[in-house]
Amino acid sequence: NSQPKKQTPGIPPIDDSLLSSRPRRNRKTEAIRSLVRETILLPQHLVYPIFIHADSYVKPISSMPDCHVHSIPSLLEQVELAHQWGVQNVILFPKIDASLKSNTADECYNPNGLVPRAIHEIKRKFPQVMVWTDIALDPYSSMGHDGIVGDIVQGNQKQTVILNDETVEQLCRQALCHAAAGADVVAPSDMMDGRVGAIRRSLDAHGYSYVSICSYTAKYASSFYGPFRDALESAPADMPGVPKDKKTYQMDPGNAWEACREMELDEHEGADMLMVKPGLPYLDIIRLMREHTTLPIVVYQVSGEYAMIKAAAQQGWLDEKQCVLESLLCFRRAGANAILTYFAKDAAKWLVEEQGIARK
Ligand code: PBG
Repeated sequence: NSQPKKQTPGIPPIDDSLLSSRPRRNRKTEAIRSLVRETILLPQHLVYPIFIHADSYVKPISSMPDCHVHSIPSLLEQVELAHQWGVQNVILFPKIDASLKSNTADECYNPNGLVPRAIHEIKRKFPQVMVWTDIALDPYSSMGHDGIVGDIVQGNQKQTVILNDETVEQLCRQALCHAAAGADVVAPSDMMDGRVGAIRRSLDAHGYSYVSICSYTAKYASSFYGPFRDALESAPADMPGVPKDKKTYQMDPGNAWEACREMELDEHEGADMLMVKPGLPYLDIIRLMREHTTLPIVVYQVSGEYAMIKAAAQQGWLDEKQCVLESLLCFRRAGANAILTYFAKDAAKWLVEEQGIARK
């Protein structure tokens, strides 16, 4: 720095008196960078989604490398491992045997079903871990839809649709069943109208006023859910008369203000947390919602986002750890309080190791 500046003929030297602001000074060492960093990511911000089935073996998911469909004992191991690194919230996704599926998805509120049993086991062994459940019919639906498929007649036209109000009744039964088993947070992901209010009223009427609702507020009709539907064999059925996609209930990827409208309704209906899904292509939605609500925002880094990072990392094209930590940090910067991510267990471990965060 004390060196006199070299002059190149024809290139005028940079004049310090004109360059009063040099932003690089705030980036010069890790000590300064971490001092001025606006956003931090901690293991406590992560929610770990775990796939489960009733079988006793653990099944790999080919489109989600390193993710498995777990048995109940291996689910408990996953919860313990994640918790050791500071992840205190998990969400369960069941793979239901085809023989238990139906259009009305009645298995979704079987008190002896897979999800209630899993909740019970987790709460017995790890009472301090918050257990979230997904509220929607698709894992239990023979049609592969989040709601009941049925015909309506409008004028003289018959149409096959996803029945809204009939579905909401089933969702209330499902939420009550999970609450009775000990769920801490229920997360309706079905996108039916009015479901948050209906679930809130049902829970309260049965004495579960302490059970939280994290609404999938802005859930888009996204192609990034493909690997998840592979894992659970829950894609819309390829049958005549069954709607082949979820576009009549999940949101159109072109819409942002509609997310605000859904948000106002969910707030009014009593949601405790609001979710945006998928994550990375929808950072603007997180920001928009953050600026229009005082409720916590949750984002879901979905299966397709996981698969993209994993696939590139396996090719040696991306550094998995750095790309994962960067994407998760960016969700926080965009305005998310919490993040559902299949990387939760690994990311928490990396955070503890890299940043020397005190272990829980
Ligand atoms: C079902 C549900 C889906 C996901 C979470 N809950 C799939 C869908 O809507 O088809 C997707 C999550 C992911 O892709 O990781 N209601």
